[in-house]
Amino acid sequence: MYPKHFIVFIILAIFACKMPSKMAKNGAYYSELHRPQVHFSPEKSWMNDPNGMVYYEGEYHLFYQYYPDGLQWGPMHWGHAITKDLVHWEHLPIALYPDSLGLIFSGSAVVDWKNTTGFGINGKPPLVAMFTHHKVEAEKAGRHDFQYQSLAYSNDKGRTWTKYAGNPVIPNPNNIHDFRDTKVFWHEESQRWVVVLAAGDHVEFYNSPDLKSWTKTGEFGVGHGNHGGVWECPDLFRMNVEGIKGKRWVLLQSIGTGAPNGGSGTQYFFGEFDGKTFINENPASEERWLDFGCDNYAGVTWSDAPDGRRLFIGWMSNWQYAQKVPTAPWRSAMTTVCELTMKNTRAAVLLSRQPVKELDLIKTNTINLPTNEPGGVFAPNAMPSAFDMELNVNLSSTTAKILGYRFSNSKGEE
Ligand code: FRU
Repeated sequence: MYPKHFIVFIILAIFACKMPSKMAKNGAYYSELHRPQVHFSPEKSWMNDPNGMVYYEGEYHLFYQYYPDGLQWGPMHWGHAITKDLVHWEHLPIALYPDSLGLIFSGSAVVDWKNTTGFGINGKPPLVAMFTHHKVEAEKAGRHDFQYQSLAYSNDKGRTWTKYAGNPVIPNPNNIHDFRDTKVFWHEESQRWVVVLAAGDHVEFYNSPDLKSWTKTGEFGVGHGNHGGVWECPDLFRMNVEGIKGKRWVLLQSIGTGAPNGGSGTQYFFGEFDGKTFINENPASEERWLDFGCDNYAGVTWSDAPDGRRLFIGWMSNWQYAQKVPTAPWRSAMTTVCELTMKNTRAAVLLSRQPVKELDLIKTNTINLPTNEPGGVFAPNAMPSAFDMELNVNLSSTTAKILGYRFSNSKGEE
């Protein structure tokens, strides 16, 4: 539906069509049909959630749920890539393979600066990944304790990983059917590691002095926000609120089905976290969504990002149709890396997500398109194959409640 009485100025910033990336091993790589030109995608095979994002020694690591032998979800590994500028990616070998404890489901990674684990060597802190093991045989046998949390560590900037001999570090003694997706961080006030993980219809919090021995400290979620599907992939962090003194805790919570536009989506909560549990500061029935589009799922933020930035990446797909997206020899891409901030708007405090400014690195040209009227159509002769569209909307004389854009091509697809 198009509203009346608004004016739109459009600016197109053109991206370099062939990414000058270290990813390309041969010339054909970036010219495959539907291959994203800007967003991260694996060279081949199936990918879902981003995992283990951590910044260390000039490199932003991105691990991801990966099935190397097919184009549909299968036994999960952690694929691996790094970027130095949040735009150009370098693929690295698979970091974590399934083992006797199970498949490698989603999780996170940290720099253990104080070597609390003792995994560090030569005075250097280890990178420690905390992930979910998923034991297929136990699931098939009808058991409910087939997901539990484990560790792996690296002493060579994430290039090789050793699984901890004491795994699992958080077993599943209460037989929770969906018990996964660990996001771990250092909580300065309590001098403890904290992990938040999804447990069906709620999240659970645990703390630890050394990432190895964990104590449950709290739960949050039953009766709060949206419960159209199982809760997955939480994240918890503290942020400044623009224009207000003090900080707020943000809990991100992905949900497999039930998002506003169908299928998978990510909701968020604002509140307090005392090192043990989370208190929602808004009415329990309130739903807040990070994205009203359909393609931003299971996203979490980087550990240790420099300059206090809260950097986010999500899986640019949706479980409703992810396995059918017509691409080969790979399937799925990530969102661009985005920066999260808390905006103090007239209506409410909101979580805002903007693509990182580093994307300007690959913009080559800018075109100003003519001002458009409601219902107007742009039909440029030649659209660039990759572009960033900036829309300036003048709402001063409108009473419209809904603003919409429709993108279509000469084949009538839209
Ligand atoms: C979310 C998710 C996670 C799980 C992973 C398995 O998309 O279902 O809960 O750890 O994918 O690949």
